[in-house]
Order: sequence, then structure tokens, then C-alpha cells
Amino acid sequence: MIKKAILPVAGLGTRFLPASKSIPKEMVTVVDRPAIEYVVREAVAAGIEQIILVTHSSKASIENYFDRNFELETTLEHKKKFDLLKEITEIVPAHVSVVSVRQPQPLGLGHAVLCAKSIVGTDDFAVLLPDVLVKATSEQNDLTRMIQRYNEVSAAQIMVEAVPDDLVDQYGIVDVATIPEEGQSQIMQGIVEKPAVGASPSNLSVVGRYVLPAKIMQLLEQTPKGAGNEIQLTDAIAMLQQTENVEAYRMQGQTFDCGSKLGYLKAVLHYGVEHPKLGGDFKALIRELAL
Ligand code: G1P
Repeated sequence: MIKKAILPVAGLGTRFLPASKSIPKEMVTVVDRPAIEYVVREAVAAGIEQIILVTHSSKASIENYFDRNFELETTLEHKKKFDLLKEITEIVPAHVSVVSVRQPQPLGLGHAVLCAKSIVGTDDFAVLLPDVLVKATSEQNDLTRMIQRYNEVSAAQIMVEAVPDDLVDQYGIVDVATIPEEGQSQIMQGIVEKPAVGASPSNLSVVGRYVLPAKIMQLLEQTPKGAGNEIQLTDAIAMLQQTENVEAYRMQGQTFDCGSKLGYLKAVLHYGVEHPKLGGDFKALIRELAL
């Protein structure tokens, strides 16, 4: 059973400056809540019960957000603002815990995941990269499907989506004999981090959702520095794939890269129009602006 998820949040968010100068990029608001809450909700919807934040000293506000705030709660109670009180105390359901561990040096995504080794122990786990929001387009989200598939075939699942050929050098890219249908998995022949345009095995990019066996931690310990002179999760997955099946899962939902400014604005529009309270007025506002 996959019950633990690692969320690497130690990155400095240079792509999102100046917004991320004094608040973590993960705390930038999408409609009425920080971006990271959407990622945590996605994990919880897929059955995750422990969120492991791999974080940095400058990012305590993320941990605070998922903690109780008694002063605020008491004030809201006195003021009889019970709806707000309910909302801030139910950010994560009671059965879900949020723990954190520091990444002491920025040595790459693979290193960030390895920092959670002692918390993960012998359990298999998911990894969710918080820059990308994945919006479900059906009742079951993609991570749920990946976990189901993992339970069925015991093969690591790497979520992918097609990107334009000239953007392959920004992503991990998988090599597959046949391209899976959306919502389906296919055994990978290989995976490579940020290949040069024109030298890529496909245009299927790694989105930032992974379901991995506990043993990837041992492989990460042996992974030398790779692309960008960083320890890459992609390289450890490539090692894993030499001894066992690893599958590319082609996603069905929609992605928003909130690490980029335009991706962020797109996310605000999409999540805004679907907001249960604000959606109607927000749509009217968009129509007004479009005139
Ligand atoms: C990371 C991964 C890459 C993946 C990407 C998705 O890269 O290393 O394989 O495709 O996230 O956003 P980064 O964006 O941290 O350079």
C-alpha cells in the first residue's frame, strides 16, 4: 500500500521571482489557498496518509500552514466565525499527518528525495513535485490510477505527458516502444534527464508524479551527479529500470506549471472559474475583461 508521499519543497523558486523573494513559491496563492494545498489534496485524494515535506530553513511558513494555529482558532471561535474556523482546521483530514525534514544543501531532486529515507523506511512511496498542479478531469485522479497500477503489477509508475518537441530539454523524457493511451501505463525502455532537442527518445515528459519502491533510496545513494551537476531522480530511476520493469503512466488530467508565471496565471483562471463560491462572479469578470 502506498501511504507516504514525499513533496520536495526546498527549491528557491528563482523562476517565480520577485513573488518568491520572501515567501516560498509553494505559498503563492492560487485563488484562495496556497499552491501547495492543491498538491497535498491531490495526494490525500489518492489515499496518502503521510505527507513528507523536504524543506529549507526559509520555508517554515509551509509547515505552519499545515499546523494548527490556536491563537487564530480561538479568535475565530470568539467571533463566531465558524465557517472559517472549520476551513482552517480541516486543511488536511485528521487521519493525514504532515512531517518535515530538511535538505541541508541544494544538491538536486534525487538528493531531496534521499533526505526522506529514514522517514520512508521500508515503505514504497509517491513523490509529487509541487511546482506542477495536476487537475483531475475525472472522478479518480491520475495519482490514484498510478497507485492502483503499482499495486497490480509492482512496477514503478512515472507520470508523463506529451510536450512540444522543442521543449524536451526542460524535462525528464521517457523512451517507450509504443505510446500509452491516456490513463494507461507502458513499460519504459529508458529515461533521460533534459535531453538535447533533436536527441530525445520521445516527447513524453516526466510531469513530476512518481510511485516508487523503497529500494530507490539505495540507488539514490549510489547516483552520481548528472544533468546540471545535480543528483537526479531520473538517473536513479534509469538504474532501477535496468533490473526491473518501470512503467510510464500517461496522464489524463490537466497540468499547470505554477513555477512559471504564465502557467500560474492559467491555473488561477482554471481553478477560479470552478471555485464553488467565487466561480460565477469570476467568470463574469473574465467576460467583462475580454470585451
Ligand atoms: C524536475 C525533474 C524532471 C521533470 C520536471 C517536471 O526537473 O528532474 O525530470 O520533468 O521536474 O517539472 P526540474 O523542473 O526540477 O528541473
